[in-house]
Amino acid sequence: MKRTIRLILLGAPGAGKGTQAEKISAEFGIPAISTGAIIREAIAAGTEMGKSAKSYIERGALVPDEVVIGIIKDRLAESDCEGGFILDGFPRTVPQAAALDEMGVSITDVISIEVSDERIIERMGGRRVCKKCGATYHVVFNPSPKGENCGVCGEALTIRADDDPAVVRSRLDVYHEQTEPLKDFYAKKGLLKIVEGQEKLEDTTALTFKALENA
Ligand code: AP5
Ligand code: MG
Repeated sequence: MKRTIRLILLGAPGAGKGTQAEKISAEFGIPAISTGAIIREAIAAGTEMGKSAKSYIERGALVPDEVVIGIIKDRLAESDCEGGFILDGFPRTVPQAAALDEMGVSITDVISIEVSDERIIERMGGRRVCKKCGATYHVVFNPSPKGENCGVCGEALTIRADDDPAVVRSRLDVYHEQTEPLKDFYAKKGLLKIVEGQEKLEDTTALTFKALENA
């Protein structure tokens, strides 16, 4: 029987957290929870939370801790998280990590996917996303089998509003200042594993699965 995995995926914007979260979710049958995706859905739906988060996302800043902590608290209380889960993009600050501890959530694994800023800037220009089902592609590295339409649901693919090069740079700065310290936070708990992001998606997936096997 497979062990229960309650995983945090750390990594800079564009490191491939969402891409690997999809693979792990399929392999282990556990939900992948992306705070970024939940916030983008709220923006598209025009909810109060979406309206207040929009300006933060668009300029590449972090949404306030209390908002995302509330999102995660509600999401982890859902029944599909009982057998484990993957957190993609949460926590992103030390207070968010402390809040997870306070909720009594016992994390089993923390994997940081490492990719250089230069390569990230190169990658983000080619990202295409499906707003309907959330699938992510890259025009060169992971093209959709249906060209400019989603290979899963057929919807026209779009470019994320925060993938503008200037916004990507701000997001990288925010990552280095506020999120990278979490590597130390989890290393001290003996949970941190580093996965070097590879040129090919499948090679990163293989290293990620290996890190999960060697827990
Ligand atoms: P979020 O949606 O989480 O964005 P992010 O962390 O900036 O990361 P991305 O989704 O951009 O990248 P990714 O690592 O998932 O990479 P992907 O797999 O797509 O957050 C967005 C915003 O929401 C934040 O800026 C903030 O405002 C807010 N927010 C979210 N969570 C928050 C929190 N906890 N606190 C406060 N605010 C929060 O891959 C990128 C591209 O590269 C794709 O095109 C992919 O196909 C390609 N690719 C992936 N792997 C490879 C590879 N190995 N080789 C070549 N190409 C690859
Ligand atoms: Mg993502």
